[in-house]
Amino acid sequence: MRIAVCLTDQRVEPWLEGLQAALPGAHVYAWTPGAPPADHAVVWAPPQAFIDGQPGLRTLFNIGAGVDALMKLRLPATLRVVRLDDAGMAVQMAEYVCHALIRHFREFDGYEADTAQGQWSFRKPRTRSEFPVGVLGLGVLGARVAQAVASFEFPVHGWSRTPRALPGVTCHAGDAQLPAFLAATRVLVCLLPLTPATTGLLRHETLSQLRPGAYVINVARGAHLVDDDLLALLDSGHLVGATLDVFRTEPLPPDHPFWRHPKITITPHTSARTLRAESIAQIAGKIRALQRGEPVAGVVDPLRGY
Ligand SMILES: NC(=O)c1ccc[n+]([C@@H]2O[C@H](COP(=O)([O-])OP(=O)(O)OC[C@H]3O[C@@H](n4cnc5c(N)ncnc54)[C@H](OP(=O)(O)O)[C@@H]3O)[C@@H](O)[C@H]2O)c1
Repeated sequence: MRIAVCLTDQRVEPWLEGLQAALPGAHVYAWTPGAPPADHAVVWAPPQAFIDGQPGLRTLFNIGAGVDALMKLRLPATLRVVRLDDAGMAVQMAEYVCHALIRHFREFDGYEADTAQGQWSFRKPRTRSEFPVGVLGLGVLGARVAQAVASFEFPVHGWSRTPRALPGVTCHAGDAQLPAFLAATRVLVCLLPLTPATTGLLRHETLSQLRPGAYVINVARGAHLVDDDLLALLDSGHLVGATLDVFRTEPLPPDHPFWRHPKITITPHTSARTLRAESIAQIAGKIRALQRGEPVAGVVDPLRGY
C-alpha cells in the first residue's frame, strides 16, 4: 500500500514519520511532481497537479474538518474524500467559543480596561436568559459547542440543513426556519462548512434579523461573512461586537479595518488547530478499516460539498 503526503502549509516530515510508524506495512512518502501513484493520500490544500498525477488514488484524507479547498479542485468521481472527525478539534472549538461568549457576557473587556486604570468598579450583573446563543451548523464541532454553551445555562438555538435533536438545544432546520433562528439569537456562532449555499450567509439581510445588541462569533470560514455589512451594522449599533478567527484573506491584510476596530476581537485562525498525533491515529485507523472492507466516518458528499 502506498500513501502520498501533500501538505502545502506545513512541514511534511513529522507527518511522514508518524504515519509510517502507525502503518509499518505501508510505503509513506512525500509527494513531489512526477512522484509514483499512491493508493491513499493525506493532504491539505493540494494543487490540481497532485490530483491529476494520481489516477489510481482511492482515498484523500484531509487533515482538517473543512474541505472547501478540496471541493474547488477537479476530483475524479470515484475518489473518496474523508475529513477529520473531531480528532481533538471539538473541545478546542468549545473552549474558544465559550471564552468569547463569556468574555462578552461578563464584560471582562470592560473590567480589564477599568483595572488597567486602577479602578475598582462593578457592573450590573446581566441576565443570562437575555443572551440566547444561536449556533449555525450542528455537525461535529457545532453540536459540541452548542452543548458546551448549554452547560453554562444560556438558552441555545441551533440551525442545520436537516433536522437534528440535541438535549438543551432548540433546533431549527433549513432555509424556512432560518428567520425564526435569527430572531431568537443574540450571540451568533458560525460553524457551517463553506459551500455555495453558505457563502456570504452572514450578510446585512441575515445579521439585521438578529436581536438588537447582537454579538457575532465566526469560527468557520471568512467567506461566510460579508465584511462591509458587519462593519455597517457595528456602526449602526445593531451589532455590539464580534470575535473573528477566520477571514476572506489570510493572513488578514495589514490595512484591513478589522485589525483596529474597537468592537472587533481577532485571532489568527487558531480556534481549533489540527493536532498531529490525534489526526495520524484517526487516519491510520480509517486506512486499516478500509483495508478490512469496513465503512469509515467522515466521508464527504461531493453533492452537498461537506
Ligand atoms: N477556525 C478553525 O480553526 C476551524 C477548525 C475546524 C473547522 N472549521 C470550520 O468548521 C466547519 C464545521 O465543521 P464540522 O466538523 O462541525 O462540520 P460538519 O460536521 O460537516 O457539520 C456541518 C453542519 O452544518 C450544517 N449545514 C451545512 N450546510 C448547511 C446549510 N446550507 N444550511 C444549514 N445548515 C447547513 C450541517 O447540517 P446537517 O447536520 O443537516 O448535515 C451540519 O449540521 C468546517 O467546515 C470548517 O470550515 C474551522
